[in-house]
Amino acid sequence: MLYKFLLLLVVLSSLAGLVRAQTTLHIDLAAPTRAMSPTLYGLMTEEINHSFEGGLYAELIRNPAMKDPAYKLDHWDVVKGGGEGSIALEKGIAGPTPALNASLRMDITQAAANGGMSLGVMNTGYWGIPVLANTTYQVSFYAKAAPGFTGSLRVALERSLDEQVWAETKLGAPTGEWKKYTCTLQTGAVKDVSGLNRFVLSASGAGQLWLTQISLFPPTYHNRPKGNRVDMMEKLAAMHPTFLRFPGGSYLDPGHYEWKKAVGPADERMGHLSEWKYWSSDAMGLLEFLLWCEELQMEPVLCVSDGRGWLPHEGDVGGLVQDALDEIEYVSGDVRTPWGARRAADGHPKPFVLHYVEVGNEDYFDSTFVYEQRFARFFDAIKAKHPGIQVISTIRNLKDRKPDVVDEHYYLRPTDFERQVHLYDNYSRTGPKIFVGEWASIEGQPTPNLHAALGDAAWMTGVERNSDIVVMEAYAPLLCNVNTGATQWPTNLIGFNARGSFGSPSYYVLQLFGSQHGNQLVHALLEGQEHLYQSVTRDDKTGTVYVKLVNINADAQPVDLTLAGASGLAPEGTATVLTGDTPASTNSIDRPENIVPVATVLKGVGPTFRYTLAPYSVTVLQLKTQ
Ligand code: AHR
Repeated sequence: MLYKFLLLLVVLSSLAGLVRAQTTLHIDLAAPTRAMSPTLYGLMTEEINHSFEGGLYAELIRNPAMKDPAYKLDHWDVVKGGGEGSIALEKGIAGPTPALNASLRMDITQAAANGGMSLGVMNTGYWGIPVLANTTYQVSFYAKAAPGFTGSLRVALERSLDEQVWAETKLGAPTGEWKKYTCTLQTGAVKDVSGLNRFVLSASGAGQLWLTQISLFPPTYHNRPKGNRVDMMEKLAAMHPTFLRFPGGSYLDPGHYEWKKAVGPADERMGHLSEWKYWSSDAMGLLEFLLWCEELQMEPVLCVSDGRGWLPHEGDVGGLVQDALDEIEYVSGDVRTPWGARRAADGHPKPFVLHYVEVGNEDYFDSTFVYEQRFARFFDAIKAKHPGIQVISTIRNLKDRKPDVVDEHYYLRPTDFERQVHLYDNYSRTGPKIFVGEWASIEGQPTPNLHAALGDAAWMTGVERNSDIVVMEAYAPLLCNVNTGATQWPTNLIGFNARGSFGSPSYYVLQLFGSQHGNQLVHALLEGQEHLYQSVTRDDKTGTVYVKLVNINADAQPVDLTLAGASGLAPEGTATVLTGDTPASTNSIDRPENIVPVATVLKGVGPTFRYTLAPYSVTVLQLKTQ
């Protein structure tokens, strides 16, 4: 009896094995293909989670102009020297520019003996200042002194713990007029892993002096003065993005993003309290966004403010339409146009290429009623002057105008993204194109875990398969400072602190999708097991076929691949796999590479071959054809 039962078990389990082995991916390389959008993979950005302030914008001094969060000396402290004195916020005197209308006043009541430093001020940056070995830091600040002040100045980088000096530079005496000082701090053989350092600006002598716009920059990406952090730009570059949607997001409208206040010399930008309730200096302004685009060879997707959230519904958007036209001219106008000339004066005579302008952000929340008319005003004015620009709306099914592209946003649970994989399969091929301008599986804080990444990957197979109509996508939010109190949004793609950054599992999904695809959508059909998803593309120049497979099952899944119409199929390809121990596994600032893609040689490729997907995995197979 027992023997028979065991035999039955063996038969049943091998039958189960047979059933499972029947998962098949039929790839038809002979069937007609559709063109894949060349601009599918891109980035969306805004000032949220300290993305720029204490983030990508590489400034290391927090509250450089004494305005953060509302005209305070936050993040500045006295450093005792050999003398006596105090510091205070000064708002009563004219600054070096109208925007620099606050300063830090040092009142030195007693000088140090022997010309030593009497008193100083220190700043510990945005949750730390990393100091690297053999590195040149750029320092600048404005200073002015009261009559009779005879002391000199010194800047230094020091370890906070024990005041170990990593680098120092001495400067002359400030005068009675505001003067901009620039110098460098050169480190030697520094060994610092803590990132807990301080920038110190001190003075000898006695008397009164004022300081403002105190700035410290490490080396930046492509060495652009006042540019972006290298580690984060390298991560973004590895995603192979083709566009950047900016400046928001919610950052755009409810606080009314005024781009004209975010151009010109940074010292002349007033800054503002941003939508996400912290101070934005606007140092990451319009030209800086465009330079970021240039450095990563991305096209700008320019979001223009349509008054949502602050302009009364019956309000006239005329001024905003003109603002948008001026902004387009600043970005792409010839230097002989007024705003093209302003861009040239700001240092970039060459116009930027601009194909996409988006009107507003998420107007479907509360502005459906007025959006129809507002969109028409923007659409007509932009098309009249710039017929080549694609105008993006934030609401579908507008009656009066047909937008070129509609921006759709999705923040869902990973399982809901799985359910939406076929959303675009039946979308109209004659309606507006789609831009999935913000989306993310929300699971894991402050960055997504593997389960979220699998939901993202499943969804992305549906987006990629339909990228004849889904012309662009961008995950959001892109960046988050992981320090306590720095983050406003739960789940974000790339985490960072002062010392470094890390990609979440979802980041690696998007890196795989963005860097491994062809230019044609190949007909493919997956039959068999549930929770498996696919997208197949081919590069018509190289013949490489990219097969993306997502397995959201807890066990390995054998898949039989059949390739009809493949000619010159090479027996070897590559397999790149992203997986982890459990759905909750993730990356963090301390374990940045817990989950990363691993590439191996794929052997035994033929017109039919079997590949076994790892549990909880995203796989890209690269197959060589002619
Ligand atoms: O990405 C975070 C926010 O989500 C964006 O600012 C807004 O557009 C959306 O609601």
